Amino acid sequence: MSARRPLVAANWKMNGSIAANEQWLAEFRAGAKNLGSDAVVSAPYPYLAQLWVGLKGTPAEVGAQDLSEHRAGAYTGDVTGEMLVDVGCRWVIVGHSERRALHGESNERVAAKAARALDAGLRPIVCIGETLAEREAGRTHEVVRTQLAVVLAAVGAAALERGAIAYEPVWAIGTGRTATPAQAQEVHGAIRAQLAAADPGAARAVRVLYGGSVKPANAAELFAQLDIDGGLIGGASLIARDFLAICAAVPRPKG
Ligand code: PGA
Repeated sequence: MSARRPLVAANWKMNGSIAANEQWLAEFRAGAKNLGSDAVVSAPYPYLAQLWVGLKGTPAEVGAQDLSEHRAGAYTGDVTGEMLVDVGCRWVIVGHSERRALHGESNERVAAKAARALDAGLRPIVCIGETLAEREAGRTHEVVRTQLAVVLAAVGAAALERGAIAYEPVWAIGTGRTATPAQAQEVHGAIRAQLAAADPGAARAVRVLYGGSVKPANAAELFAQLDIDGGLIGGASLIARDFLAICAAVPRPKG
């Protein structure tokens, strides 16, 4: 039985500057001696090398927010997994709902990106989650199940032990409207059951993160749920002391 070590990942989205990041890193380094959880900081591409240097000596690793599903070539503006590894990245977010909505990323493309990330030696954080309209139509489980099924068909459940799944209800992202711990656990439990149907060992080992308006004030209650193994943190991760507080809110390993 493999215990799941909690993981808290920052998603800075399209925020930051060299100067602001330096300040964040200084505050983070000062408080990051005993984090409690594994930690990842996902920044925009131009700042990945800055994080690589700035996070050295801390337990946190560098993450990107996207990658190309292609290996190389004529894809103007895109970035390969190998390039991310080259600048010190260990993790990459794939299928964030903002990319699904704003860049038209389909389940198949998200699955291809997860496969490419693994192939390049990166740990993917695969994001899934329903919109408000889908929840209100009673389609939450169906939507989440399909999103995950396409990824599982592409890479298998065991491969996700190297990465993580992030359940992020779209209606809770950046809205201040967090899923209740019970609402989140209900979906996390279904995700765990879907993984178990594919591979019971992987189901015990894969970390399933919650994302959507996680803050220092609500993190402990969410992370205490049986199938919630940490979080993917947007807005609150821009403030180093809030991110540190969220990392400290994890309970002991589960599984
Ligand atoms: P939020 O974003 O914490 O600002 O709601 C979470 C995310 O989009 O990953």
